[in-house]
Amino acid sequence: MADVNDVVEKYASLIDAAKRARENAVAPFSHFRVGAALLGKSGKVYIGANMEPDVMNLGLCAERTALFSALAQGERQFEAIAVYSGTDEPGYPCGACRQVYSDLAPDVLWILVGDKQVKIEKLDDILPNRFVLEDLRR
Ligand code: THU
Repeated sequence: MADVNDVVEKYASLIDAAKRARENAVAPFSHFRVGAALLGKSGKVYIGANMEPDVMNLGLCAERTALFSALAQGERQFEAIAVYSGTDEPGYPCGACRQVYSDLAPDVLWILVGDKQVKIEKLDDILPNRFVLEDLRR
């Protein structure tokens, strides 16, 4: 695994994009605002923020908002995602996002950004022994 400082330097603009995306979060219920910036292999960046509509159980995390937007725009291969929740220590993606990324963007480098710490993760480590499509054919 690459050194955290190298990753932070290499993906500084992606991290900035996640921080800016957080400003667009719609989180009137949790007041927990999350921004994500997903880098496609094309070089394009797709941002997402968490969305909490009035019917509360219909919301979506920042990470999936970014991924679905990227896919809708035709991007299929992904390099890295930066996620920022405005906390000192970085948060981890929820289980639902982990599974969706496993299905649609399994190889991304996760850059979990806090104000005092950054963590770098791969999906294999944060979602081991996961469901994969091949399981249906066994
Ligand atoms: N949330 C995200 O957007 N990403 C995460 O990684 C964790 C949680 C959102 C979902 C909900 O809108 C709020 O944060 C509180 O759970």
